[in-house]
Amino acid sequence: MTALRWTKQMPELKHSLGILYLNETKFSRENLRSRPRPHILPAEPFKRYPHAEKVLLPRKWDGEETNFWALLQKRRSLRKYDPRLFSRTDLALLLWACQGVTAQAGQFYLRTAPSAGALYPVETYVAVNHVDGIDPGLLHFDVKGFQLERLTSAAPGPDVARAALDQEFLARAQVVFIWSAVFRRTMAKYGHRGVRYIMLDAGHIAQNLCLAAEAIGGGACPVAAFYDDEMNSLLGLDGQEESVIYLAAAGFRP
Ligand SMILES: Cc1cc2nc3c(=O)[nH]c(=O)nc-3n(C[C@H](O)[C@H](O)[C@H](O)COP(=O)(O)O)c2cc1C
Repeated sequence: MTALRWTKQMPELKHSLGILYLNETKFSRENLRSRPRPHILPAEPFKRYPHAEKVLLPRKWDGEETNFWALLQKRRSLRKYDPRLFSRTDLALLLWACQGVTAQAGQFYLRTAPSAGALYPVETYVAVNHVDGIDPGLLHFDVKGFQLERLTSAAPGPDVARAALDQEFLARAQVVFIWSAVFRRTMAKYGHRGVRYIMLDAGHIAQNLCLAAEAIGGGACPVAAFYDDEMNSLLGLDGQEESVIYLAAAGFRP
């Protein structure tokens, strides 16, 4: 039996948005230098909310011995949670795993997760549901200051779950990580192909979170099913300059 390529079976898909995007952003030896790049202004590399209340995070923690290979073996998407509270240190460890600064090289603040061109287009927000000593609410992670900036003070769980296609476990997780992209940070250098890189960057961050959540005796569940504009409006994002691209619920194993 001859295997048909799916673009032959369904030729109309050849002109579909996703395939067009992939084709239009391919590198080849012929087009690498000649293809015109759109002129896109760079964006600020860090986002700050200077007037927001700051929530300090511990910068030192006891490095408990963990077996990396066992973590990989154990990792599973977790959607049911023990009601125990996360400590501030648990949250700090998870944030550090996502985007902690590990070295500085010139103007670049290098992090736990790799990023195309060291441009770090992904911003991290947390919906805090159950963390000891941190009131529930939506907060932004200030990467350079290693602190949180409070955006809201109401219990965020139900709104976040509703905006994530009513996936109720998001309301019960100790914390939901919400990742947005500031597209111009990466697209100013890589043009439209940069959108691929932004999504890959987010995947690295999310995997770090999944493994770190296992390391603290919990787990995480990545979530890409959400109503984009509803999630953006919870965080006050315009969905153009900056838009939510990925989430992950994290909590303790029951
Ligand atoms: C890009 C991506 C999007 C996902 N979106 C959701 C989601 O919206 N809801 C959900 O419950 N799980 C979601 N998941 C988790 C997958 O369902 C899960 O990884 C898969 O079933 C394999 O199970 P495991 O992670 O336990 O190995 C997503 C995973 C990925 C990688």
